[in-house]
Amino acid sequence: MNIIFHGQSCVEIRLKEHTLIIDPFLNHNPLATAKSEDIKADYILITHGHADHLGDSLEIAKRNEATIIAPNDLGRYLSFQGAKTHGMGIGGEYQFPFGKVKMTLALHDSSYNPPGTKENIYTGMASGFLITVEGKTIYHAGDTGLFGDMQLLGKLNAIDLAFLPIGDNYTMGPRDAVIAAQFLQAKMVIPMHYNTFPLINQDPRAFVESLASEGIKGVVLEPGQSLSF
Ligand code: NI
Ligand code: MN
Repeated sequence: MNIIFHGQSCVEIRLKEHTLIIDPFLNHNPLATAKSEDIKADYILITHGHADHLGDSLEIAKRNEATIIAPNDLGRYLSFQGAKTHGMGIGGEYQFPFGKVKMTLALHDSSYNPPGTKENIYTGMASGFLITVEGKTIYHAGDTGLFGDMQLLGKLNAIDLAFLPIGDNYTMGPRDAVIAAQFLQAKMVIPMHYNTFPLINQDPRAFVESLASEGIKGVVLEPGQSLSF
């Protein structure tokens, strides 16, 4: 499979017969090299309702007739907007045509503020995903603080690759993300959710060095960069 990082928390996973995209925040991300109209995907996974994750999901979903996989209350809201959706709850797992998805806990808030309004629409719980495709398990943490049950995720799943936020302020910072990587026993870690705006500025290479000093492999992907996996 081919994995492309598009900046912030957006990860595209190209499989033999399917393409998934997680948290496609592209057109309003100053660091993204792709635009939403470039994306061809049949499944869109959204961790929570914040604009830097929901992003261009509706446009991509409608143009590609893609299915949105999201926390149930966010999924319901998006179905009211005309998208094809599959709602899930934390702890739930489902076998999709492309592989298996389990929705995981994230310690974070979730609502959608439609641009130009002073309204926060409730979008349920924030989440993460364990995605098992082509014999590999990928963990996308979403936006979250460090939590002890990451040890359980590591014990119950052989995680080949973990995407972890390192931006701090709204999510874990680099120090907690190293502990998360240890808890998860992830074979490889890619940092996300940093440098998109000043409040979350971090040095991803310093993070990867701290991982290395704990014997964990880390890789920094620039927006637009891909990894064959
Ligand atoms: Ni968020
Ligand atoms: Mn975020």
